[in-house]
Amino acid sequence: MPHTTALEPPETDQWFVDSPELSEFVTTAKEIIASTNRNHTETLNILEPYFAALLQKRDWLPEHFAQPNPESGLGGGIGQWLLYRSQELTIFSLVIPPNSITPIHDHLSWGLVGLYQGKQEETVYRRLDNGELEGFAQLEIVGLYQVKRGDIYRLLPPDGDIHSVKATTVFTPSISIHVMGNDTGSILRNKYNPEQQSIQSFCSGYSNAP
Ligand SMILES: [Fe+2]
Repeated sequence: MPHTTALEPPETDQWFVDSPELSEFVTTAKEIIASTNRNHTETLNILEPYFAALLQKRDWLPEHFAQPNPESGLGGGIGQWLLYRSQELTIFSLVIPPNSITPIHDHLSWGLVGLYQGKQEETVYRRLDNGELEGFAQLEIVGLYQVKRGDIYRLLPPDGDIHSVKATTVFTPSISIHVMGNDTGSILRNKYNPEQQSIQSFCSGYSNAP
């Protein structure tokens, strides 16, 4: 079975950017998470319009968090910058250089992903096997989406949880903001190779935090 072991999330809030727009969103998100009491569909439904409003605002993401990272845990120079982290909520930016593509990966948590800058092509997969055979996974493609600034997609495992994302911009990186129910960069999750029908656990890490 794939590993799902997590490092313990922090007891207290960890802030990596100082932004009134982000802190207002975090306050709202934490209230929604508490009031929807682990009904993740409802969490996503109520949270999404607030996230859409955050994506419409400009200049709250510091330049440092909008940069690629040559040391990337995801390969391809992809920057994964932690913006905020607590027990119940993690927010990070994912900066994909032009024409770079992520491995096919999962997230193992509910989440909202929204485009802050640029364009992406997202390929969504579904797992066909039952996960009982170590190292083996069979995938099929269930969707191919062109994602532009302001667009939001949902992760609600198993729905939409396995995907790869390619930046379709020519000169500037594509930047998405991830609002996640787990500490996605710190946990052991999985990457997939459909041609070899293989699955491998990995930890993407963050570009700016352990
Ligand atoms: Fe992803």
